[in-house]
Amino acid sequence: MDHDAVASKETGAILHDRLAAVPEPFDFLDIACGDAGQMRTALAATKVRHYQGIDLSEPALALAAKNLEGAPFGVGLDHGDFVSILTARQDPSDISWCGLSLHHLKTDGKRSLLQALCGSTSQFLMIYEPTRVDGEDRDGYLERFSRVNKGAWTFLTPEEWEQIYHHVSTCDLPETADTWLALGREAGFAEAKQIYLDPTGFYGLYRYDR
Ligand SMILES: C[S@@+](CC[C@H](N)C(=O)[O-])C[C@H]1O[C@@H](n2cnc3c(N)ncnc32)[C@H](O)[C@@H]1O
Repeated sequence: MDHDAVASKETGAILHDRLAAVPEPFDFLDIACGDAGQMRTALAATKVRHYQGIDLSEPALALAAKNLEGAPFGVGLDHGDFVSILTARQDPSDISWCGLSLHHLKTDGKRSLLQALCGSTSQFLMIYEPTRVDGEDRDGYLERFSRVNKGAWTFLTPEEWEQIYHHVSTCDLPETADTWLALGREAGFAEAKQIYLDPTGFYGLYRYDR
């Protein structure tokens, strides 16, 4: 985050612009919210009425509560697995957001979760997720990830790089942009668009409208 390695500032600014353009009060869902560190800024000067975060990590949720303390909108934080919560819940939101977390699911799991979100989101969903280049398989993605980022992320110690690469190579299941978009349409969203690709070409921002 300190080195903006995954273009969080730019995506936070785009999210803010899209939210600021919503003319009516809205309820906002943040899936895998982490510490909600960017949400104060993303939601500033918008008509947000209620913020609902979900995360598996209690320490992250404690930081999220602190980061959102005194916010001029309602705040709810759910502790748990977003797949279980979102496939069971009927609570609607107007706008849903997920930053860098759906890619741990297999392709069918992504589609099912998007289906659940399509049913519970009244306006639009935005996700920011690792993206494979057309024709690139997962091994090709991992080779590119290592080739491009190992040299560029000089702020990491070799041990930190190994930890990150271990996570990416064991947990991350990126899709191509076409697949991310197709999954949203198959889930029932009327419109699906890629609205940003970070300068390194690894992370795409997608918007799905009801
Ligand atoms: C890469 S961080 C992203 C945090 C935040 N969305 C952001 O963009 O800054 C991933 C977050 O997803 C959470 N997470 C991962 N799997 C989860 C799951 N199945 N259910 C809920 N939270 C999950 C982790 O605890 C972590 O806070």
